[in-house]
Amino acid sequence: MKISIVRARVSDVDGILELQKNIWKDEGGQSNRYDMCDWIVHGYVFVAKHRSKIVGTITAFRTSRNELYVTEWIVDKEYRRKGIGSRLYRKLISAAQLPILTILSTDYKESVAGHSKLGFRLVKRLRNPYGLKEKKERLLLRRSQ
Ligand SMILES: CC(C)(COP(=O)(O)OP(=O)(O)OC[C@H]1O[C@@H](n2cnc3c(N)ncnc32)[C@H](O)[C@@H]1OP(=O)(O)O)[C@@H](O)C(=O)NCCC(=O)NCCS
Repeated sequence: MKISIVRARVSDVDGILELQKNIWKDEGGQSNRYDMCDWIVHGYVFVAKHRSKIVGTITAFRTSRNELYVTEWIVDKEYRRKGIGSRLYRKLISAAQLPILTILSTDYKESVAGHSKLGFRLVKRLRNPYGLKEKKERLLLRRSQ
């Protein structure tokens, strides 16, 4: 199966939103269309494509402390465990050459395992990091450059 990993273009926005809708359907986690366009143009967004279908994506932006913050890392269920997620991350790592931070819910076991494999280390455990009255525990993870 030939999967290409490329920097996203604005024309990819609908494919990214469709993938998000399928993955986060129970959690309503689709991005705002205009935010996604901003991230594509001004941040770092890569997509994995099978033929012309978007089957994975990673989104990150540069923080005020000159680190990258990853907001999302997703691969279509049918395409998981084939190394596509790792390829997306490696593309981001080599494009940005910066330390990387992310905050993950402990529910996302495969993502926690994947980050550990990619060299991320636990900075601290967080409860309710955004003051949104959530009960979930989250992990602040960091990967040195
Ligand atoms: C996390 C995710 C993007 C990984 O994508 P993927 O293409 O399957 O990743 P890879 O095949 O490159 O796997 C990378 C590593 O992740 C870990 N991993 C992936 N799936 C796993 C699973 N089901 N169980 C345990 N570890 C898993 C493994 O360490 C794996 O390395 P290995 O295959 O050599 O053991 C994908 O599982 C996903 O979309 N999950 C749901 C969304 C999510 O939780 N995103 C993170 C929050 S934004």
